[in-house]
Amino acid sequence: MIEGLAGWDQIPELNELHSRMRNWYRYLRLIDPHCIDLKRFALVVVHEANSVSMRRIFKLQRANSQCADDEAYTDDFLDHFLDGFLLSRIGSNMLLDQYFARAPKEAGGLARKTGIISPRCDAVALCKQAADYASRICQMHTGQLPVVLYDNYEAGKGACQADSPCYFSYIPGYLRYIMVELLKNSFKATLMGATAAEIAERPIHILICRDECHVAIRVSDRAGGIPSHVGERIWSYLYGAAARGSDDCSATPLSGYGVGCLTANK
Ligand SMILES: Nc1ncnc2c1ncn2[C@@H]1O[C@H](COP(=O)(O)OP(=O)(O)OP(=O)(O)O)[C@@H](O)[C@H]1O
Ligand SMILES: [Mg+2]
Repeated sequence: MIEGLAGWDQIPELNELHSRMRNWYRYLRLIDPHCIDLKRFALVVVHEANSVSMRRIFKLQRANSQCADDEAYTDDFLDHFLDGFLLSRIGSNMLLDQYFARAPKEAGGLARKTGIISPRCDAVALCKQAADYASRICQMHTGQLPVVLYDNYEAGKGACQADSPCYFSYIPGYLRYIMVELLKNSFKATLMGATAAEIAERPIHILICRDECHVAIRVSDRAGGIPSHVGERIWSYLYGAAARGSDDCSATPLSGYGVGCLTANK
């Protein structure tokens, strides 16, 4: 895909990503399919999953911003490129993670029967973990914390105890990633320019509802929302903190990467 971007070899970030991925695919091809050493294969798999870190994806996003200055690339083209690239990365990472989680322990894997899918993923516990994680990042980077409130409902029973679990079959790592990113956005927007008294009056609500077939999670805040004139641009990689020209140094785990940032997502 990178080679599909004219002039990719003139952009250092794209060059670096291209050479890493080419090396990894070459490494993978060298494995003899007739005599797979599972332990070695697991090592290659883990190395690959870790090698395209968020920092590297961020560099790709930065390179994209450089391309955006070039009239040859429209915003639509660059969004389309990044969508395709990230979709393919997420797809491969999911397969690699699944391989590693299913592989026997003697082959260096985790020997989990259902791999990365948890048949008892607890949406309530997961939301709380995500909020704790986002709170720690927020405290570290702003020195402040918003109030988080939980509502927990079950169809036919009404309100549940706040801690009552909500089990469903899902890949917890992906849901955690989404929740942390949504909460970081809410935390950041809620705290921006607010006094301690205002922060106390603007709790962030996490609502978890379930019936027999569905689980729905809603995050709502009182930070003022996103202006309607922003419209569909909210979905663009070229909108947001990263696109506003933050560089590698000013991006923090709270915001600025443009594609989220979470390392411990398993
Ligand atoms: N809950 C919210 N309330 C108000 N504005 C929001 C909220 N969530 C997002 N936004 C606005 O949308 C912009 C884009 O958010 P998004 O998370 O997509 O990008 P980002 O925060 O720059 O990405 P990243 O977190 O990876 O840096 C934010 O910079 C902010 O202006
Ligand atoms: Mg964000």
